[in-house]
Amino acid sequence: MKSILTICLLLSVTAYAQQPQQTRQTFLRSLLQKMTLEEKIGQLNLLTSDMDVTGPFMKENYKQDILSGACGAIFNAYTPQYTRMLQDMALKTRLKIPLLFGYDVIHGHKTIFPIPLGEACTWDLGQMERSARIAAEEASADGLHWTYSPMVDIARDPRWGRVAEGVGEDTWLGVQIAKAKVRGYQGTDLSAPNTVLACVKHFALYGAIEAGRDYNTVDMSRRQMYQFYLPPYKAAVDAGVATVMTSFNEIDGIPATGNKWLLTDLLRKEWGFKGFVVTDYTSINEMINHGIVKDEYEAGELALKAGVDMDMQGSVYATQLKKLVADKKISIQTIDQAVYRVLEAKYKLGLFKDPYRYSDSVKAKEVIMSPEKLKAAREISQRSIVLLKNEGGLLPIKAQGNVALIGPLGDSQRDMIGNWSAAGDFKKAVTLLQGLKAKNINVTYAQGANVTDDSVLLAKLNIPGGNAAAMEKEALDLAQRSDLVILALGESQGMSGEAASRSDIGIPASQKRLMEAVLRTGKPVVLVLMNGRPLTLEWEDKHVPAILETWFLGTEAGNAIADVLLGEYNPSGKLTMSFPRNTGQIPIYYNHKHTGRPLDPNNKYTSKYLDVSNEPLYPFGYGLSYTTFTYGDIRVSKKTIRPAEKLQVTITVTNEGNFDGEEVVQLYLRDVTASVNRPMKELKGFQKIFLKKGAKQDVTFTISTEDLKFYDRNMQYTWEPGEFRVQVGPNSRDVKEAAFIVTK
Ligand code: BGC
Repeated sequence: MKSILTICLLLSVTAYAQQPQQTRQTFLRSLLQKMTLEEKIGQLNLLTSDMDVTGPFMKENYKQDILSGACGAIFNAYTPQYTRMLQDMALKTRLKIPLLFGYDVIHGHKTIFPIPLGEACTWDLGQMERSARIAAEEASADGLHWTYSPMVDIARDPRWGRVAEGVGEDTWLGVQIAKAKVRGYQGTDLSAPNTVLACVKHFALYGAIEAGRDYNTVDMSRRQMYQFYLPPYKAAVDAGVATVMTSFNEIDGIPATGNKWLLTDLLRKEWGFKGFVVTDYTSINEMINHGIVKDEYEAGELALKAGVDMDMQGSVYATQLKKLVADKKISIQTIDQAVYRVLEAKYKLGLFKDPYRYSDSVKAKEVIMSPEKLKAAREISQRSIVLLKNEGGLLPIKAQGNVALIGPLGDSQRDMIGNWSAAGDFKKAVTLLQGLKAKNINVTYAQGANVTDDSVLLAKLNIPGGNAAAMEKEALDLAQRSDLVILALGESQGMSGEAASRSDIGIPASQKRLMEAVLRTGKPVVLVLMNGRPLTLEWEDKHVPAILETWFLGTEAGNAIADVLLGEYNPSGKLTMSFPRNTGQIPIYYNHKHTGRPLDPNNKYTSKYLDVSNEPLYPFGYGLSYTTFTYGDIRVSKKTIRPAEKLQVTITVTNEGNFDGEEVVQLYLRDVTASVNRPMKELKGFQKIFLKKGAKQDVTFTISTEDLKFYDRNMQYTWEPGEFRVQVGPNSRDVKEAAFIVTK
């Protein structure tokens, strides 16, 4: 129920915002003119509420700042009731400028979808847009205006826990997904009540931190940036993303948050970005630790001049900007520009018309976790699962008999929704045990082991440790009595994500011991993995007959995994990040460049290791199906094309197995000789097709010189004539190849 005071305020703001024929510009300019310097600075100050805290500290008296107009945006506050209560406070200020509410809606808001690295394995852009759309519908019904997503950091180092939040190692795929996500969140109209502002992050290069250790430093050539790391951010900008978040790392010696080249020259001037730039959590303050500035006064000056509009949680703008203006270090025009951008975002959302339009509890009840949304989550989760191994066709489960479900992740609701699961309610998540029971499987569960032997880590993860020997005994007794064992192993959700780097990315020793003991019983074993990053699985690949990678699939996890285990959905997911054989191979990625001494096993002095192959265990693009797809030879429409011509590349794919199924047909290109060293191959297209058993289909791709472009010796984005190879296949390794020439 709105209070009378609230209604009066609402009417006055509405009248104020809707003067006839008033354009956005004139409205915003006139508002800006009325603002004092303090009120302006308030609009650039973003603070976390106490509902949820996602960084090292929070400001206790943030509500006081809202009431005094010293804070224009809040994050980590949601629900219609809570946001309404805070908005009431903002509307008590002199100019009644509404608050903007942001939140990390990373893979769903209430209905939780697979972690982004898992969802990317669907290779289904429509489904990825759909989950963003649903997340925006739920978030906007729950008081929110702004999501801190998509995260588009290209990453080649699975030790970094935040690979869970991104879409893997490939630039081209990253570009397509970035666009789909922005479309999904923002729709075509930000003033629609069910869209939110998207925020592309972390700008830039956060995925390339050294040694995979979170918050570490980055050093990269311009060529590497432009060719491999920047395109997904640019794609989001081209798709109209409303906001950009700076990254914690430095770029070319200067932290992103104080980097004028990055935030102004590149982002605004070269790419034409028109929205506002927000920092990551306290990253202005952190420039002191970076050794770039001596205090917050200098940090604030550097950040604002570089192009940062809004300060997340650091209160540097709030405490320093006034003095910086008085000292003439910063002009009022620079401040006005930043304030204008923030107000413009609020205007576009329709907040000046109705500050409460996203805080409607009736709508929230209707929209949140509705049956269609859960259905979408289940479908997307099924498609995110990757079948890594299936010896002797053990899967799908045939004769059911007694099934033992063993492992610490088999019945753990909290783990199902993964990290960065925002406002997700894990008590609504379906575990694998529940999913199997819903299929009337005769299943019995035993935990078998602690997630890890490391009691300190267990405590940090908030997981109670049990008696390992007793758990193992119970599990082995159960295995002995059963016809089939499903092992649910991997990482607990808190073992990946932010501040969760690992130097050993294998299955933790406690679970490995359990797995070995269970295998010794001689029962058939299916390993269901749950984890937030590629793992090292050499041992498992050698000894376990069937392996299913299920990531953290979200609210419908258990149902989706059970659907796949029973063959009600034939798995079609393909990895978007290479799985190394051991951590010594990292960084490992499919689109590496040529060396001067390519691998030759018979020649000592070539590029290789003494103790491990150069190849990953499971390559980029890899994933099996219950059926067998075979690929014919590549047919190219011509051997030589002129620049304006297009080349058709066709391949016949046949479903030779016993199941209907989907296949992701992937196209890679290789530039044989160029003015700079080019990757051995690069993904340039894919098609996801459905084939009934016994059916075959011609799949055709069209290639033009656009697909051949790269940054040449002079850093021009262009293509060069010469010889190329086109490769098509079910993954980046097992491809068919043909050659073609492009003339001048
Ligand atoms: C993370 C961001 C996140 C922000 C707000 C930071 O620690 O790096 O990705 O959006 O917190 O929660």
